[in-house]
Parts: sequence; C-alpha cells; structure tokens
Amino acid sequence: MLIREATTADAAGIAKVKVNSWKTTYEGLFPDEVLDNLSVEEETTRWARNLDSISKTYTSLALVAENDDKEIVGIAAGRKNDDRIFRYDCNLSIIYILKEYQRKKLGSRLTEQIVDFFVDKRFKSMIVWILKGNTNSLFYEKLGGMPKETQRVEKWGIVYEEVGYVWEDVSKIF
Ligand SMILES: CC(C)(COP(=O)(O)OP(=O)(O)OC[C@H]1O[C@@H](n2cnc3c(N)ncnc32)[C@H](O)[C@@H]1OP(=O)(O)O)[C@@H](O)C(=O)NCCC(=O)NCCS
Repeated sequence: MLIREATTADAAGIAKVKVNSWKTTYEGLFPDEVLDNLSVEEETTRWARNLDSISKTYTSLALVAENDDKEIVGIAAGRKNDDRIFRYDCNLSIIYILKEYQRKKLGSRLTEQIVDFFVDKRFKSMIVWILKGNTNSLFYEKLGGMPKETQRVEKWGIVYEEVGYVWEDVSKIF
C-alpha cells in the first residue's frame, strides 16, 4: 500500500472514497436521504477546488493511500487550525478509509505522516472533530487523544454534537 501526497488529478478518486465512507460510516447517524443523494460528481468538483487550495498553502497537507491497482482507498488531510474558539495549533481535518481496507493500520500510517508534517511545521497541539456516536473515535483514543471539547454543528437543519479529541504535543503521538 502506497501513501503519497494528493494532487489535483486525485479529485475523482478521493471523492469516491469520501462518498463510499460516508455511506458506511454515517448510516443511522445522518439522514438516509442525505446519504442516498451523495454525488461523486459534486464531491469531485469540491475536491478539485480543495486540492488546488491545499497545494498553494504551506500549512496544509492532503494524502492518499493507494492499493496495488493504484486505486485510492484512503484519504487524510491536515492543516493549521484557524478556529478562534478552539485554539489548538493544527487540525486533522479528515480521514477516511474504505470499509474493506479498515483495521489494517492504514489510518495509523496516514495519521503518522500528517503528524510528521505538523511536527515539521513546529505545531504542537492538535484537535480532531468526530461526530458523537461514531465509534471510530476509539481510533483516536488508541492514539492517546483526549475527548476534551464539544461543539454543536448544524447540517441539513439538524443540530449534531461533535467531540473534539485533543493532543497537547503532537511530537509525542508516534
Ligand atoms: C477511523 C479510521 C480512520 C481508522 O483507520 P484504520 O486504518 O481502520 O485504523 P488502524 O488499523 O490504523 O487502527 C489502529 C488501532 O486503532 C484502534 N481502532 C481503529 N478503529 C477502531 C474502531 N472502529 N473501533 C475500535 N478500535 C479501533 C484499534 O486499536 C486499532 O488497532 P487493532 O486493529 O490492532 O486493534 C478508519 O476506520 C475510517 O476511515 N473509518 C471511517 C471514517 C471515519 O469514521 N473517520 C473518522 C472520523 S472523521
């Protein structure tokens, strides 16, 4: 399994992983009609824009994991945290692995590379937001994250609670 920096040419592959992971991860947590209507085309357009801006930002990084057939099976991104309320230095903003590739340490490898990037940038504290009820939060607990923060976010007119897992010193995670 290869992990490499994402390029703008990866937008469609990333969009497929995102849509697929949302369907398997958020079933029963987000409304069925939202999950049924997710569009790979729309996600591709959004990701093309995201990747373009990430590539121009010195403090952001997007990675993909590829299988032997060069298909993207996992994605992760991190960036400097600009949140004025939760003032941690950096943020693991997304991490999604296709269901059939989970629990093979890909998430750990992607996180480690994002964290290495943060250490290199001299960032110290990190926050990751996860939807309350998503049991994958155990992945963050295993990495030593502490569930210190909560916030409410509104999506599709529904208020959801998110838990913020915090690491005070990213250089000590791996
Ligand atoms: C959460 C996620 C990124 C973890 O990546 P992964 O490659 O599956 O995890 P790893 O194999 O690196 O796991 C390392 C350890 O973390 C723990 N862990 C990971 N996922 C876990 C889960 N769902 N439940 C319990 N423990 C878990 C385990 O201790 C695991 O070691 P083990 O498999 O030897 O027991 C991945 O499962 C995923 O993309 N899930 C769907 C999307 C999601 O929920 N993303 C995060 C929220 S935004």
